[in-house]
Amino acid sequence: MAGVTDRPFRQLCKRLGAGYAVSEMVAANPKLWGTDKSRRRLDHAGEVAPIVVQIAGGDPAHIADAARYNVDRGAQIIDINMGCPAKKVCNALAGSALLADEALVAAILAAAVRAAGVPVTLKIRTGPNPARRNALAVARIAEDSGIAALAVHGRTRACAFVGPVEYETISAVKRHVAIPVIANGDIRTPEEARSVLARTGADAIMIGRAAQGRPWIFREIAHYLATGTHRAGPTVLEAYGLIIEHLADHYEFYGEDAGVRIARKHLSWYTGRLAGGAQFRGAVNAAGTVGEQLAAVTRFFDTLAATNERLVYVEAPNDLPGQPCAAREHLYRRQSDNPSSWVGEALAA
Ligand SMILES: Cc1cc2nc3c(=O)[nH]c(=O)nc-3n(C[C@H](O)[C@H](O)[C@H](O)COP(=O)(O)O)c2cc1C
Repeated sequence: MAGVTDRPFRQLCKRLGAGYAVSEMVAANPKLWGTDKSRRRLDHAGEVAPIVVQIAGGDPAHIADAARYNVDRGAQIIDINMGCPAKKVCNALAGSALLADEALVAAILAAAVRAAGVPVTLKIRTGPNPARRNALAVARIAEDSGIAALAVHGRTRACAFVGPVEYETISAVKRHVAIPVIANGDIRTPEEARSVLARTGADAIMIGRAAQGRPWIFREIAHYLATGTHRAGPTVLEAYGLIIEHLADHYEFYGEDAGVRIARKHLSWYTGRLAGGAQFRGAVNAAGTVGEQLAAVTRFFDTLAATNERLVYVEAPNDLPGQPCAAREHLYRRQSDNPSSWVGEALAA
């Protein structure tokens, strides 16, 4: 996830039970490889295997070059992005816009598999729009091209993050091909994880937004799937310790200035739905140094620990921006088209 799954966050998720974590998308276009952001996205030092790098682009030759380039720098699996719905990505004919051109899909996948020399996986949506759900055709192309596994976000490109997830389309994809299929979309709780696995027959599930500010969701889901019982959420003290470790890794990765700035969104996700989260956000935004930011975090968790043993969410922790709601759709579209949002950032990287 662009703007989310940087190396420190991937490490944390893997430590907390994620079996797999994919890099932020990197642009296939070599003109975009020289920036600080791109260099950081190529830094996999100390990362727990498998190291998976996602590439976004629409030119088979660029995709092949980017696959080789990333494999030379440590990628053990290459993932191709045909899932991003944002205008900026789609105007450049990349992301989910590619789904409308099956011949180009085939050319890109063949080029990637030929060039990579490591397993290549693919992330798609169910089609360009509700009138053209071609996930089955694309899945067959993927299988024929030698794609090793296929992740499906159960919405079309036109649906962005709005409306119900089509788990039945994911189930049809699973029955249509023999390669492993990973189900994705709106999975927020252990019960939803189990139900999506059962409904789709998928080989695995992929969690996106529900992990933001809640990386321990992976061990909670893994525990539930293994035992049918709930593992308690972290205590306030454990959560504090994990967040401090995340921050330490994060500051080391980004340096102080960028580190403090980029950490704000993670801190907002961690605390936004906890008592006092809104006031804390103000304090964190005012903190300009590592020392000030850590002090604000410590004050917040000290206060929380005085009243609660475990994290207690004042709003449902599983509230995702993806329900059929005009206001949310508007927000999402605004974010997608904003060059400084995650999509713009990823492309400018
Ligand atoms: C902030 C953000 C960044 C994302 N970045 C990417 C990306 O770089 N590549 C990708 O394949 N999907 C990306 N996605 C889509 C997610 O991987 C996932 O398919 C989608 O959020 C639905 O899953 P969820 O309901 O579990 O969040 C992103 C989503 C969000 C909200």
